[in-house]
Amino acid sequence: MTHHERLLIIDFGSQVTQLIARRLRELNVYCEIHPFNKVTDVFLAEFDPKAVILSGGPASVFAEGAPMPPKAVFDLGVPVLGICYGQQVMMHCLGGQVERGHGTAEFGRAFVTPTQAQTDLLDGWFAADREQVWMSHGDHVSIIAPGFEVYGTSPNAPFAITADIERRFYAVQFHPEVHHTPNGAKFYENFVRIAGFAGDWTMGAYREDAIAKIREQVGDKRVICGLSGGVDSSVAAVLIHEAIGDQLTCVFVDHGLLRQNEAEEVVKMFGENYNIPLIHADESELFLGKLDGVSDPETKRKIIGGLFIDVFQKYANQIEGAEFLAQGTLYPDVIESVSFSGGPSVTIKSHHNVGGLPEKMGLKLVEPLRELFKDEVRALGRELGLPPSFIGRHPFPGPGLAIRCPGEITREKLAILKKADAVYIDQIRKHGLYDDIWQAFVAILPVRTVGVMGDGRTYDFACALRAVTSVDGMTADYYPFSHEFLGETATRIINEVQGINRVTYDITSKPPGTIEWE
Ligand code: XMP
Repeated sequence: MTHHERLLIIDFGSQVTQLIARRLRELNVYCEIHPFNKVTDVFLAEFDPKAVILSGGPASVFAEGAPMPPKAVFDLGVPVLGICYGQQVMMHCLGGQVERGHGTAEFGRAFVTPTQAQTDLLDGWFAADREQVWMSHGDHVSIIAPGFEVYGTSPNAPFAITADIERRFYAVQFHPEVHHTPNGAKFYENFVRIAGFAGDWTMGAYREDAIAKIREQVGDKRVICGLSGGVDSSVAAVLIHEAIGDQLTCVFVDHGLLRQNEAEEVVKMFGENYNIPLIHADESELFLGKLDGVSDPETKRKIIGGLFIDVFQKYANQIEGAEFLAQGTLYPDVIESVSFSGGPSVTIKSHHNVGGLPEKMGLKLVEPLRELFKDEVRALGRELGLPPSFIGRHPFPGPGLAIRCPGEITREKLAILKKADAVYIDQIRKHGLYDDIWQAFVAILPVRTVGVMGDGRTYDFACALRAVTSVDGMTADYYPFSHEFLGETATRIINEVQGINRVTYDITSKPPGTIEWE
């Protein structure tokens, strides 16, 4: 754990708990999310939070075994903010009352108006005589706990904003962390000011801390790092290199399913800028051979994942004394989400990673990005001086072009796909759209269509362009290109890429679609 001032978010399973963390990190406040059932008295004492937030959640305080925080939360002497279910929990624990939601359930936009009472929590918050907020609750508070007063009300939530100023306990029915509460950032700003946070969570400080931690963990041993060319593993590698120099060796496995010039660019970036020992493992023959004739998406993914582990292991065995494996694991992968439905969720796609390796090889993990969100990783990359063009790159999936080539993968199709993709990305860059788009790529379709070029007949592949906007890849919208852009791009692809004679644009959002085609 870091020595920064810390805020603890106790998670009761709300869909938007991560957004609370985002809002706080934007204020340079370090926070961690932990599920309610892991927050014991001992944990609290060790964590030593400067403030606590109780998240929303789908449960009802009336349910048997309803999730509750430990009572000790209210004895720490630090500010506590309860949101939605968190408010109900606070009232329940501190002597107020909650009622079932008969007819008063509220979902969506609502307006809160202030009462006569004043609190620092609302400094500069009410822009006019009322403020828009986002509500999402079934039950509601019917009697507030002793010591609390009401500071804001809405038609369906008479206790929309309540507080016990003396103890610095705040409890609100709405969700200040979501976009639909437009002034929510101000709300959190006030809360962390009341709690006395200095706002010392900066990338510069993080970098120094992380380097010290890596040095302490690794000592004089060696670390290996699988480089994919993506932002996360690159930032992790550069950070670790800064900490331990050439005790780090990177292995870049080229599976032959990379974008045009990608392997060369990655090797050049690392060789020219960082002088990090790098093994460039060209294993394209192996991967493409094993994928020959395979068309099922899950089988493709499993073959690639399995081969990647074998290959990585082969090269790692050549590195004397390697005891650690570095991975670019991010915070969203680490947060233990609270499942109220029980049971595993359905597998949509088997994601490719190097899981399984550390145990098999007896390696310990170094994961210096475990506490960061994606945009924070990019900020750290900038701090470390990685070229901006590298940091801003769109995400690229581990199985690479294999999952952008529905049906059987052939070398011919891959070659066409790489060219078409390069033209498409070039178009996007030329039109200044690259940074507005989360991810853009071409998928080559397993159909040939008839066309006419010059005076001749063509019978070539069709392709689909994909471009989406997204915050985290979990949901996505298709990008609204202009017709001119689409027309110009289609013309360029058909003229410049032999083998494609038809271009379509994929306008599916996620859900119900996914971003990749397989
Ligand atoms: P989907 O297609 O599931 O993709 O909507 C969501 C995001 O995840 C990326 N993706 C992967 N990334 N290994 C990865 O590292 C994978 O196996 C994988 N599959 C999908 C995808 O590119 C998008 O950004």
